[in-house]
Amino acid sequence: MRTLLLLCLCVYVAWAGSFDYDDYDSVSVKPTVAARGHRPLSRGHDSYRPNRYSPPPINTGGRYRGRPSTTVPDKGRQEQEKEEQPEAGGCTHASEQMGVLCPTGCELKTALVKQERNVKGLKSQVNDLSRSTNNVYNYVDHMSNSLRERQRVINENNRVVNQYTNNVEEQHAYIKETVDTVFPSNIRVLQGVVDKIRLKIQKLEKAILAQNEGCKEPCSTTCPIPVVSGKECEDIFRRGGRDSQMYMIQPDAFYPPYKVFCDQTTEKGGWLVIQNRLDGSVDFGRRWDDYRRGFGNIGFDVGKGHCETPGEYWLGNDRISQITKMGPTELLIEMEDWTGTKVHAQYQQFTLQSETSNYILAVDAYSGTAGNAFMEGSNELFGENRTMTIHNGMMFSTYDRDNDNWNPGDPSKQCSKEDGGGWWYNRCHSANPNGRYYIGGSYTRHMAKHGTDDGVVWMNWKGSWYSLKAISMKIRPFFPSK
Ligand SMILES: *[C@@H]1O[C@H](CO)[C@@H](O)[C@H](O)[C@H]1NC(C)=O
Repeated sequence: MRTLLLLCLCVYVAWAGSFDYDDYDSVSVKPTVAARGHRPLSRGHDSYRPNRYSPPPINTGGRYRGRPSTTVPDKGRQEQEKEEQPEAGGCTHASEQMGVLCPTGCELKTALVKQERNVKGLKSQVNDLSRSTNNVYNYVDHMSNSLRERQRVINENNRVVNQYTNNVEEQHAYIKETVDTVFPSNIRVLQGVVDKIRLKIQKLEKAILAQNEGCKEPCSTTCPIPVVSGKECEDIFRRGGRDSQMYMIQPDAFYPPYKVFCDQTTEKGGWLVIQNRLDGSVDFGRRWDDYRRGFGNIGFDVGKGHCETPGEYWLGNDRISQITKMGPTELLIEMEDWTGTKVHAQYQQFTLQSETSNYILAVDAYSGTAGNAFMEGSNELFGENRTMTIHNGMMFSTYDRDNDNWNPGDPSKQCSKEDGGGWWYNRCHSANPNGRYYIGGSYTRHMAKHGTDDGVVWMNWKGSWYSLKAISMKIRPFFPSK
């Protein structure tokens, strides 16, 4: 029985909880969907200091010239008062016709009177008796009344008992039916759930096996490296590399060359992809060292003989810093929602300081359709709250290296731990391109690991609770466009 109840409880819990296989910590979250991004000030010692000094982006010394191109009354006792024969004093007969009584008659009368006295005494005795009989009668009457009353109570009790008995029988029947039918069906449902889970586990195991198989050999990009190479993608473009694909670049002769994906078609080409999200295939919740060196897949060959399909990757903060410090650099952020709509944000100046400065971000000269998140923060927020979401001038933070502007030094207040990726978090974000990838776009705080808007977010376009399908960041040396 207890086991059955337990099972029943299990079924309920299973239904109520739906099935979430993700191993998330349960976090109590408010049910309302509100603007996120920032971490509002709490009362007490909490304070917020906006930007510290940060170097502006490099804007002089161009490397390139332009190129062409929800409650009886008592019975009035009719006591028949007997007509008293008038005492005829002495010896007259009661009836005149009968004449006068003789002395003996008188004696008789006296005797009779005597007798009468006796009879009178008797009468009072009779009266007494009658009275006591009355009493007894009353008592008996009372007794029988209370007997009736008792009978009535007993009947009533019987009725109640019957009713209870009926109830008990009904409940018994109900419980029996529940035990006989509902429980087994719940058990069947539970069994079905268990079977499904088992199937899913099997699938997952298979997938893991397949993945292991594919990773026996160190992953390598097998595309041929194009003949054309250069300092960066603009250089390659000018040298004739006009196809968007993976190229080899060497920005600085003191460091070895490396692979990047060049977009040679968007806005006249020459764009070096430094960040790319398009299918969630790469985990961006990584540590400092990974973000420093770069991670992910530069490109794929889908049968054309060269890596013309870009992968998801982060070029690496050292490399980004190094390239952007070579001269004025522009940044193009392109994004796409799950219906295929595209917008962009462009900054004519973009510089990343070196690791010793924790890769401080500097941008300027915005143009575009996505909203100036980097410099203005989220337009859903106001005052200090908005300031908290500006990225320009922020140092880079990862979950293992907290450089954000949210109570620095407090390990429980780290944007990167809550918002999913490495980024120039302030007190936290208005844009979160390195966040967690949610297929389909819309997500809720209940789906997020920490109840925060940790998706691939650009608040000024789609708000906090929409994770973009694709987003990329590309850089190019800035030059006059004519
Ligand atoms: C900042 O945000 C908090 C909560 O999100 C709100 O209570 C407060 O009014 C906001 N301040 C401003 C200036 O909008």
